[in-house]
Amino acid sequence: MQAIARSCPNIALIKYWGKRDTARNLPAVDSLSLTLDSLWTTMDVKFSPEILQDELIINDLQQNNEFSRVKNCLDMIAGKNRNFAKIKSSCNFPISAGLASSSSSFSALVIAANSALGKKWNTHLFANQASAISGSAARSLLGGIVELENISNGIKIQQLSKPNRWPLKVIIAITDTKEKVISSSKAMKLSARTSPFYASWIKDQTFDMREARAAVTDQDFEKLAVISEHNCLKMHSVMWTSRPSIVYWNSATIECMHTIRNLQKKGVPVFFTIDAGPQIKAICVPENEDLIEKSLSEIVGVRSIMKSDLGSGPSLDINI
Ligand code: PMV
Repeated sequence: MQAIARSCPNIALIKYWGKRDTARNLPAVDSLSLTLDSLWTTMDVKFSPEILQDELIINDLQQNNEFSRVKNCLDMIAGKNRNFAKIKSSCNFPISAGLASSSSSFSALVIAANSALGKKWNTHLFANQASAISGSAARSLLGGIVELENISNGIKIQQLSKPNRWPLKVIIAITDTKEKVISSSKAMKLSARTSPFYASWIKDQTFDMREARAAVTDQDFEKLAVISEHNCLKMHSVMWTSRPSIVYWNSATIECMHTIRNLQKKGVPVFFTIDAGPQIKAICVPENEDLIEKSLSEIVGVRSIMKSDLGSGPSLDINI
């Protein structure tokens, strides 16, 4: 009745922002992402009749913040009459700060909880369960470059490129580790209700997905760079034009964007993406990794840098 799973966050290049079904947490748009390998979350889930209430420990501290989402996830997998569970999680990067910690956490939780109950690995089922809690989590169930597609009854994920086929690097400039001011889930609902740009954001996503998919197939860095930055800035435009406005950036975020644009002008193949937080993710090829790390680390307001290759996806570490 116990299992430990490990999963890595994924960074969307073509973003998910908005829900087509809020009750089932189904995304309004398809999305495309990179699964990382050096950032990770482990989830240790133990169900037992001897445990008298659910308990969640993250990085050795008792937690209440994510407790209801975690409980809902376990209820969905094990049923409401399940045994109580002890859930212990470790994460080697800041949580709820725009670094996609919910994608690694909930994908690992789904794998660990199913395995603790003796259920066999089923990527499609796990993806739909993970997505019901956190829309981005489903994409972390596969490695490399991953597509999430809306299908009639839920979602479907597929690997577009293995991690070694196109070995991109992701350099993350951390500008603030505080918890985000508004959760992505609440922010998405606000955007759908109030942003005048929301409808065109949804409408254009099919084109952006097609462009990005073709760029991945052809390993066309320039094409992927152009469509990814455009898609990211459109998502943030929807956020900025919501009422009240949702602004996750700080001045260092903008400085990082300028630095990356200046490197591009000098011919360096690099592009940025930003999620629901102030961190910048620069995507580049291995030859330019050091230059980009150095350029971003010199910016006032950049507190630290994390680097990652593309990862091969989650693992079930122990089934006890
Ligand atoms: O999975 P959630 O509910 O935390 O939403 C994630 C949304 C973005 O990170 C901003 C975009 C994405 O596709 O990951």
